Amino acid sequence: MRIVLVGPPGAGKGTQAAFLAKNLSIPHISTGDLFRANISQNTELGQRAKAFMDAGDLVPDEITIGMAKDRMEQPDAANGFLLDGFPRNVSQAEALDAMLTDAGMKLDAVLDLEVEEDEVVKRIAGRRICRNDSAHVFHVSYAPPKTDGVCDTCGGELYQRGDDSEGTVRNRLEVYHTQTEPIIDYYKAQGLLRTISALGDVQDVTQRAMDALKK
Ligand code: AP5
Ligand code: ZN
Repeated sequence: MRIVLVGPPGAGKGTQAAFLAKNLSIPHISTGDLFRANISQNTELGQRAKAFMDAGDLVPDEITIGMAKDRMEQPDAANGFLLDGFPRNVSQAEALDAMLTDAGMKLDAVLDLEVEEDEVVKRIAGRRICRNDSAHVFHVSYAPPKTDGVCDTCGGELYQRGDDSEGTVRNRLEVYHTQTEPIIDYYKAQGLLRTISALGDVQDVTQRAMDALKK
């Protein structure tokens, strides 16, 4: 399957993507994770992306689209993928459509995670991520690690993302409303949109997502 995951920052896209990708045996492709890996390896792409991410703005399309395309062309993505954080504006959605059409492929579904703003702010404020693996995500109250600051899965150090500060989160939400939300109508018009509530237990949300994808 070829799936796009959309939803505001902190909706739980990364959390759900980890389970869905495993259940569906497809790779989880997160443009945010790809940018963060480039930044930590100090690549040229990372250096170009960093200031935009620190400010909570979108990284320009000419950097993002090429990076996403390179990742989607890897052999493990030949039979499907779960995109998390891409596309993030209508021009990226159009570029994705063009890429897939050229390759004789199409999207199967766009899963939209709905959560109100107060809740995403709480989720982001308490989020802690493992330095060894960005798929190891915790929350100080909703999903606390057994030992403070230590990853349950691998023992790695947990940290708070630089763009999770209050001021940056406000801008990320604004950017989501103005630039990313329009892709919801874009995909609705294509008959691909499946909207689910992302409130409640992580496992319940995964079940809702799996049910929505079967429709
Ligand atoms: P990105 O990394 O994509 O960040 P985001 O979209 O802001 O999303 P988050 O990672 O903040 O949240 P999430 O929905 O994955 O939530 P999570 O599962 O962690 O992008 C970062 C930046 O990169 C952008 O600002 C931009 O600069 C750049 N970028 C990336 N893609 C780009 C693109 N295509 N174009 C241009 N620029 C791009 O969950 C959050 C917390 O909630 C966790 O602590 C988790 O434990 C907890 N939680 C999850 N589910 C539940 C639940 N059901 N109940 C209670 N707690 C929960
Ligand atoms: Zn870990």
